[in-house]
Amino acid sequence: MSAPLIEIIGLSKAFPLRGGLFGGIRGDVKAVSDVSFSLAKGDVFGLAGESGSGKSTIARMIMGLTHPSAGAILLDGLDLTGLPLALARSKAVQMVFQNPGSSLNPRRSIGQSIAVPLEARKIARADVERGVARLLDMVQLPADFSTRYPHELSGGQKQRIAIARALAVEPQLIILDEPTSALDVSVQAKIIELLNELRRSLGLTYIFISHDLSLMRNFASRVGVLYLGRLVEEGPTRKLFEAPAHPYTRSLLAAVPVISAEEEAIKPKAPIVEGEIPSPMNQPPGCAFHTRCPLAFGLCDQQNPEAYWLDGDHFARCHLLAPDAASLGAKPIETLKRENAG
Ligand SMILES: Nc1ncnc2c1ncn2[C@@H]1O[C@H](COP(=O)(O)OP(=O)(O)OP(=O)(O)O)[C@@H](O)[C@H]1O
Ligand SMILES: [Mg+2]
Repeated sequence: MSAPLIEIIGLSKAFPLRGGLFGGIRGDVKAVSDVSFSLAKGDVFGLAGESGSGKSTIARMIMGLTHPSAGAILLDGLDLTGLPLALARSKAVQMVFQNPGSSLNPRRSIGQSIAVPLEARKIARADVERGVARLLDMVQLPADFSTRYPHELSGGQKQRIAIARALAVEPQLIILDEPTSALDVSVQAKIIELLNELRRSLGLTYIFISHDLSLMRNFASRVGVLYLGRLVEEGPTRKLFEAPAHPYTRSLLAAVPVISAEEEAIKPKAPIVEGEIPSPMNQPPGCAFHTRCPLAFGLCDQQNPEAYWLDGDHFARCHLLAPDAASLGAKPIETLKRENAG
């Protein structure tokens, strides 16, 4: 593997929780705990997890909008964590948010909005105009869109404008935080297609955040699954879909709709996990997933599982994967496979 473009090492964020009569700190919200992953240029890292699992907090730390409590973020080998926030990395890292309308000023024309990041580069007026036209073309919108206003655009078109604005500073990495979840399914697919084309033609790298694993299958090269701020499984997309190792990943995949018989055949038949995700303020001891895990055994509420490597590039944090799991009281993994098959 080539040198990683971005390397996240042991990233954690605990938000202090204020309250009580005197506004003192009465605990913390462990939003992100010890998350590590890296990705090479051109990769798409899919970050999946339920609401509140810490996806956006990771994005905000990489963007420099939130200070990590611990850990390091290396971009092209340069440690960003010591640098002044946001400004230092705004050129290299851009973000596209869920709600495409919120980042557009309703009183500015589309052309004016796209021009803002170009003007910040202090280039000549004619070049700004050419730049706006070129960016509209890159996101496959007609040049006359520059004179329109946000209220005249559909959700999908606004998201294309948000992508154009992100591209204006020629970033290396774009973080896509649920970029399509506010859009219709057919529009979703078109935006993913556009993002894929741009990635190939511009050599971009993405972190793609979504609670929807099905969107990652044909888009992400690697997928990481977050549960209560921890990466519980991470690996190449194909391995994660075909041989998911963590009971949580299996249950998420069991809920994913499939389109072909081939996909149906490999889809895990694990039980759908029920119940509420516990509060990050009051995390269960041991493996945080044990309260909802259909396979939990004695060790699971005692000890936080380490990462077990299934291959050099695929790991899961689950006691079932420990070499001596059976002697500790776990159902043998073979039983699990049989149950999944039947
Ligand atoms: N500024 C903050 N202060 C206190 N708690 C916060 C803050 N920002 C996030 N949190 C908490 O951290 C946890 C993770 O939040 P985060 O927004 O990262 O989740 P998410 O995975 O992006 O969820 P969603 O899918 O709903 O967008 C949540 O419990 C949230 O309430
Ligand atoms: Mg979020």
